Amino acid sequence: MQAPHRYQRFCDISTSERILNTVFLLTIGLAYLMALINMVYTHQGRDGKPGLSIEDIVIMYHGSNNQTRLGSAINGIMEPNLKYKSDKEVILKWIQEGAEETGYQQDIAPILNRDCTHCHNPGENPSLPDLTHYAGVAEVANAGGATLPALVRVSHIHLFGIAFILYFIGKIFLLCDMNIYVKRIAVVIPFVAMLLDVLSWFITKHVAQFAYVVVLSGALMGLSMGVQILLSLYQMWFYRNSRY
Ligand code: HEC
Repeated sequence: MQAPHRYQRFCDISTSERILNTVFLLTIGLAYLMALINMVYTHQGRDGKPGLSIEDIVIMYHGSNNQTRLGSAINGIMEPNLKYKSDKEVILKWIQEGAEETGYQQDIAPILNRDCTHCHNPGENPSLPDLTHYAGVAEVANAGGATLPALVRVSHIHLFGIAFILYFIGKIFLLCDMNIYVKRIAVVIPFVAMLLDVLSWFITKHVAQFAYVVVLSGALMGLSMGVQILLSLYQMWFYRNSRY
C-alpha cells in the first residue's frame, strides 16, 4: 500500500540544516532590530520633540503646513505688508488645503499682486521668492514631506529587499507542524502588511491621518515576522511531533 504523501517538517531535516536555518533567522532578527533603531534615529525629532511620534511620521510623508516659508513669512515679518489682516487667514487656509493652483488663481493671486509682487518679482529683487506666478508661490507654499520620486525609490528597494527576507523566513516557517489553515494565512500576513505599509506611505503624502496605517501595518509586519521566526526556532529544537 502506498504511504500517504507527507510534506516535510522540521523533524525531517538534518541538524546541519537546522543550524543553517537558526543562524539565518537569528541574523534576520538582529537586522530587524537594527532597522528599528535606525528608524528612530533618522525620523525622531522632526516635530521638535525628542522621540519618535506619529507627528514625526506625518511630517516625513505629508509635510507640515505650519512650517512653509510662505506661512511663517505672513505670520511674521511679511504680515505688515498685507493691506487687510483678514487676507492672512485666506492665505493660511489655502496653504492648509494643499496650495492648489485653482485656489491660487481665484483667491491668492489678487492678494499677492496687490501687496507683495512689487517687491517679490524677478525684475526688482531676483534673490527674493518670485510671487508673480503659481510655480514661484508654490515653491514657498509647499508643505514639504516626501516627494513622489523619493517614495518610488524607497519603495522599490523596500519591496525587493523585504520580499526576499519574508520568502526565506516563510519557507522555513512552512516546516512547522501546525493547523494548515492557520499556516496558510500566517505566511501571507507579513506580505500583506508590507504592501499595506508601502501603499500607506503614498496615501499619507496626501492624507495625514494615514500615518496611523503606516505605523500599524509596519508593526503588523514586524510582529508576524517575529512570530514566524520564534515559532520556527522553537519547533526546530524543542518540539517533538507525537505522530512519528
Ligand atoms: C517692501 C518689499 C516687500 C514686500 C511688499 C513684501 N516682501 Fe516679502 N520679502 C521682502 C524681503 C526684503 C525679504 C527677505 C527678508 C529676509 O530674508 O530677511 C522677503 C522675504 C519673503 C519671504 C521669504 C521668507 C524666507 O523664508 O526666506 C516670503 C515667503 C515673503 N517675503 C512673502 C511675502 C508676502 C506674502 C508678501 C505680501 C503680503 C510680501 N512678502 C511682501 C520684501 C518684501
